[in-house]
Amino acid sequence: PHDHRVRQLLDRMTVEEKLGQLQQLAWGWDTGPGGGASEAAAKAEEEARAGRLGSVLSIFGARTTNALQRVAVEESRLGIPLVFGLDVIHGCWTTFPVPLAQAASFDPDVARTDGEVSAAEARSNGVHWTFSPMMDVTHEPRWGRVAESNGEDPYLTAAFAAAKVRGYQGEPGEGGSAAYGARNRVAACAKHFVAYGGAEGGRDYNTVDVSESRLRNLYLPPFKAALEAGAATVMASFNTISGVPAHGNSHTLTDILKQEWGFDGVVVSDWSGVQELIPHGFAEDGAAAARLALDAGVDMEMTSTHLVTYGKKLLREGRIDGRRLDDAVARVLRLKFDLGLFDDPYVDEGDAIHGPTAATREAARKTAARSMVLLKNDDHPAGKGHPGGKGKVLPLKPSVRSLAVVGPFGDSDDLLGTWSFPEAVKKYPSVTVLDAVRRAAPGAKVTYARGVDAEGEDTGGIPEAVAAAKAADVTVVVVGEPPAMSGEAASRSDIGLPGGQEKLVAAVAATGKPFVVVLVNGRPLTMSGWLDAAPAVLEAWHPGLEAGNAIADVLFGEVVPGGKLPVSFPRAVGQIPVHYNHESTGRPYDAGNKYSSKYLDLPPDPQFPFGHGLSYTTFAVGEPRLSRERIAARALREGDTLEVSVSVTNTGDRAGDEVVQLYVHDLTASITQPVRKLRGFRRVTLKPGASRTVRFRIGADDLGFWTNAPDGEFRVEEGAVDLYVGGSSRATASRRLTIT
Ligand code: IFM
Repeated sequence: PHDHRVRQLLDRMTVEEKLGQLQQLAWGWDTGPGGGASEAAAKAEEEARAGRLGSVLSIFGARTTNALQRVAVEESRLGIPLVFGLDVIHGCWTTFPVPLAQAASFDPDVARTDGEVSAAEARSNGVHWTFSPMMDVTHEPRWGRVAESNGEDPYLTAAFAAAKVRGYQGEPGEGGSAAYGARNRVAACAKHFVAYGGAEGGRDYNTVDVSESRLRNLYLPPFKAALEAGAATVMASFNTISGVPAHGNSHTLTDILKQEWGFDGVVVSDWSGVQELIPHGFAEDGAAAARLALDAGVDMEMTSTHLVTYGKKLLREGRIDGRRLDDAVARVLRLKFDLGLFDDPYVDEGDAIHGPTAATREAARKTAARSMVLLKNDDHPAGKGHPGGKGKVLPLKPSVRSLAVVGPFGDSDDLLGTWSFPEAVKKYPSVTVLDAVRRAAPGAKVTYARGVDAEGEDTGGIPEAVAAAKAADVTVVVVGEPPAMSGEAASRSDIGLPGGQEKLVAAVAATGKPFVVVLVNGRPLTMSGWLDAAPAVLEAWHPGLEAGNAIADVLFGEVVPGGKLPVSFPRAVGQIPVHYNHESTGRPYDAGNKYSSKYLDLPPDPQFPFGHGLSYTTFAVGEPRLSRERIAARALREGDTLEVSVSVTNTGDRAGDEVVQLYVHDLTASITQPVRKLRGFRRVTLKPGASRTVRFRIGADDLGFWTNAPDGEFRVEEGAVDLYVGGSSRATASRRLTIT
């Protein structure tokens, strides 16, 4: 709708002004190397005045953004407004659980709510654009950025990516028109394009070598879903893709994203991603980096300045195409029109939101509790009658007489997780577990002993923790990773509990008293050193602002846990990659056969598989029923679908949630298929004894797959497909579908 105004503006712009629109500089702080923010902020004003700046990142506050905007709008020759970006990843003021945790809810509405709350808080403070959602599917728990992801599955990730985009941007209006011009919305950014989660060895920024079929079957679907939900922008990734850096990759950025998918929004580089074409060994100097990135499809350069520096000369020498330059500028201008910045570039300083409200806190608390996964809840050897009741440790009884909270995170207010908004970290830290437990069990004597530090081996505090556990009816051991141990540039080679924390768990276990381990972490952890000794384990992730309250809600049964793992938890690092959606081998695992695919010293499967999660009640998921057992491939291609229905019953004695999951396995195909692929999930709440029929509709998108280049295509092939339903990726109930 803005094409005419964009064209008019382009006609008036000098080459310098055009290149300026492609430049983004950092303002308040750095989120990459080089210490650019303070330096860049100092020159941002001057550049804005001169019309040599299109965007600023890491800027916040109605007054601050208005002041800089005024320079661009009122003092530059053409008065083109700036677009302000910020990493609002899982909350602005109101910090929600990390995205990996959100995925564990198997309820995309959780992401949508986070998006809505975040958008309103950010936009009222002058932020127009968030660099989120991150949708890098990954099989690498060593990779720190798994915390920002939605885990190992493209289908689940796609559902969360689309929901989050809708939360940030709102629903597109008539004819697909943008809704993010509204005062409570921001433009989303689908990142990182693409295959960043495949980093070799789980080391951040590392090489990715990926076949075209895997690229399309595993890494691309969430991006497609995010764009279909209207995502306004896309960010290029730091990795190479089969030898070609993502920032210089015309196959992914232009052939697939812009041409095949028709994306007409902005592709922003990552922090110095254009510059990094040089150390990648892809560009010989800054001019070449600018040319290669622009040619490949990058429209805006974050923090490095090669396009503004070399663009004019490159254009004069005919080494970049004027039409491509105009195309990039038009994309940036369209974003600004869609955001409504040409009509109203400022925010009302009186409307700025300065912190969480009771309602947003409540949303964060519900979300965090909904994201928790009960990994284990065995009968404790102390037997019936202990404070957990009925032989199980959880849920705890609010009437418990004495309770010990133990561990380095038991009284920590630093449970927000990676990529929390820096101002929120200072002003709105997490509710501690200790405080929340005291409130939840007002009649109990609650003691606290740290035991060990989160890192480092000093275990001098363990005796005090043991004494506290011995003196209490039940102990809550809160262990995990500090937030800085996951996220960007936070890969680990050992993903066990850091420091002396395993020793602490073992020492509490040795008391013989009932206890529960609460994990606060941003990635799958290995637990083989202590898991057998722990009767109950609750995966709480990094739960955000309302951490302690949400943990207490689940521990005391106020909320019945219903989350499921969005990622497999390995038994040991040596198993990685270990994920549910691996491909069949020619010699599948067979314990009795030496020549089968296995480890000598470990079972082949993970400690806890994708989709696993317990409840305080139990469920029975029935056999799947198909609306038809045969369907023609041609009919599927033409849009025909079938229904898979299954009954789920709460067989326990309290209300709870089950996530019914549908998996497919294509038995023979021209490209070897994963042994299982998630193709449907539904989280349902059932009263004791109640049943419900869950229905899934599946079609070509669910039953087909991409083949490899050079003639790669999406195919729905004839043959047998097994459909599994159940409460985890280990579901056994199945029905065979024949595609004719
Ligand atoms: O959005 C981030 C990205 O995910 C990693 N590098 C820095 C960007 C901007 O902060």
